[in-house]
Amino acid sequence: MASPYPDGDREKVASKLPSTLQQQLKIRAAELALDIQDAVEAAITTWRTTERAVLEVDTTGAKSFSTWLPPGLYEDFKDTCTSRSVSYTQGLAQAIRDWLDDNPSPQHATKATDPERKIVGNQKGGVGKTAVSAGIGQAYAEDGKRVLIVDFDPQGHLSEQLAVPQIEPDHDSLVSHMCGEGEGDLRDLIVEIDDPRFQKRLHVLPACFDGFLLDAKIAVVGTQKRGFQKEAALELALRPLESDYDVVIIDCPPSLGIAMDAALYYGRRRRGEAAGRSGVIIPVLAEDSSLTAYSMLAQQIEDLCSDLSLQIDHLGLVVNQYDSRRGYVATSTLNSWKSVGDPRVLAVIGDLKEQREAVRKKMPLLSYAPNSDQAEAMRQVARGASR
Ligand SMILES: Nc1ncnc2c1ncn2[C@@H]1O[C@H](COP(=O)(O)OP(=O)(O)O)[C@@H](O)[C@H]1O
Ligand SMILES: [Mg+2]
Repeated sequence: MASPYPDGDREKVASKLPSTLQQQLKIRAAELALDIQDAVEAAITTWRTTERAVLEVDTTGAKSFSTWLPPGLYEDFKDTCTSRSVSYTQGLAQAIRDWLDDNPSPQHATKATDPERKIVGNQKGGVGKTAVSAGIGQAYAEDGKRVLIVDFDPQGHLSEQLAVPQIEPDHDSLVSHMCGEGEGDLRDLIVEIDDPRFQKRLHVLPACFDGFLLDAKIAVVGTQKRGFQKEAALELALRPLESDYDVVIIDCPPSLGIAMDAALYYGRRRRGEAAGRSGVIIPVLAEDSSLTAYSMLAQQIEDLCSDLSLQIDHLGLVVNQYDSRRGYVATSTLNSWKSVGDPRVLAVIGDLKEQREAVRKKMPLLSYAPNSDQAEAMRQVARGASR
């Protein structure tokens, strides 16, 4: 509903907005010395013109809210709501929530509250995704950061290697939360690695066998829930936990399916986030088939970025299990990796016994062999992937 503004250059708009958002908007606008109407105008303009908003805002009990907007803006906004299949109340709530995220309180302006998100992926199996996810997680925790490693591969190697039991089928799990069908708090499923070296800072969200059904489940939910965006499913599940962590690491499955897209989306550069803070780490081997696999993955990343107008940063490559004694194929492929340039090579890691021994003993590598070359390589990757 719109009616003319007294001085003619704005029109009155009456809508609804949850009272908590109304209150936050009022306080934030005051803190930033802005008129509320200018803040709402900026919120709506940004929401309409940038990447599609992902997370639904709970608008139950939304209260009347009115403001003054430039003529025509509210009509355009309503068109965008229609094209995104969201109600006007939902659209406005998303716009205001995003604006609040983009315009932090000056009191907290220097502190980025979102955790760094490191997506460790490659559709090829056996290249070291799980070893790198676990290793860098341990390195960050050792360094004082609060770390969550998500075992996103339904095979559950990471959980198994750290002696964390997998979640039983049909139990509440990451997958049920990704589909918006979570029963309890996802925090209840998280397991702390009990090792004095990490001082309660290293946590694992275990895998669940139902992950094998993820693609099918998400496709069904997509047809049932209006506004459900499959690529945003992982974010939907993990966002509520984020304030507990400084770093979230995703150990991806060996596939290029929906799970990988959801992980990549989760690792995108968020508005206002510094470049190279979150993004993808790709472990590779020094052999020709790894080069082909890499180019497919790089293409998928590029497609996702252009389809959804995202930026996904490449944090780097890890050339794993490198053995120069394998001769020309190994050495020349290593040179190819180095010549890629961007992403850069974060580390070249040999075929080292400590990695296999730690796995066999179901112990964290950095605890089993803290002074080994392998542990040092993991610290180097962690540092390199955290510019
Ligand atoms: N640098 C390394 N040296 C020796 N063994 C390694 C190394 N990196 C990984 N491995 C072992 O190789 C196997 C495959 O590695 P993994 O991390 O599970 O790969 P992915 O997750 O990509 O399938 C595992 O048994 C792992 O312990
Ligand atoms: Mg793995």
